[in-house]
Amino acid sequence: MRRKLLFGNWKMNKTRLEAAEFANQGEYLLQLAKKADIDIGVAPTFLSLDVIKHTCPALRLAAQNVHYASKGAFTGEISIPMLQEIGISTVIIGHSERRQYFAETNLTCQKKIDALLENNMCPLYCVGETLDEFEHSITKDVIHEQISVGLANVKPADANKLIIAYEPVWSIGTGKNASKEIAQDICHYIRSLLKDKYGDIADEIQILYGGSVKPENVHDYLLMPDVDGALIGGASLSVDSFRQLIENVH
Ligand code: 13P
Repeated sequence: MRRKLLFGNWKMNKTRLEAAEFANQGEYLLQLAKKADIDIGVAPTFLSLDVIKHTCPALRLAAQNVHYASKGAFTGEISIPMLQEIGISTVIIGHSERRQYFAETNLTCQKKIDALLENNMCPLYCVGETLDEFEHSITKDVIHEQISVGLANVKPADANKLIIAYEPVWSIGTGKNASKEIAQDICHYIRSLLKDKYGDIADEIQILYGGSVKPENVHDYLLMPDVDGALIGGASLSVDSFRQLIENVH
């Protein structure tokens, strides 16, 4: 049975002090999540990962990016051993903002996913179409390419470490969220691609929806059979809004 998961992607928000203030309320949020029988986590900036780890050790954490090389001349990058050293085991890969502003491709995502799995870590792999692609009705072609290239080398034995997030680019930070029917249709399509590759293991892989998820609509998405949770930007930043997200799941 797949558990529901609400994951906050904080992007380039919160100083270490602000992250610590949030984490001070982390145990409270975890208790609410336990009551609601769901899992929660956050992906702060690299600088705040250890702050949250120390302030609220039970809160699941993800890094927002990683380099595929273990070390070397890659100015400004962070490696897998550096994340492992501070106890981080989940990393967001291929977020559309990384694809759009930092030239990340399906192939670089593939290299990162391969490197994470070689190190027994969990990639949270983001896929999704742009507005132009949506309007040209090629969403499924785009997703097919993202999944088949990104996961090309992932073996069935590692597939259960994956989390996939479907985030239509046109819905991120715009308030124009995809309907719950679209979210279900594409998450179901992603699961069918995973089934082709990995068989029944696909039923264990969590697939999240992301894009303008708010306390007012989180319930609609999580009711959908193939939507196992949400990757949330803006509405995950304040403790109060995160509390409402958790409380509104059911
Ligand atoms: P918003 O929830 O702010 O639309 O951001 C979604 C997102 O990009 C999560 O990764």
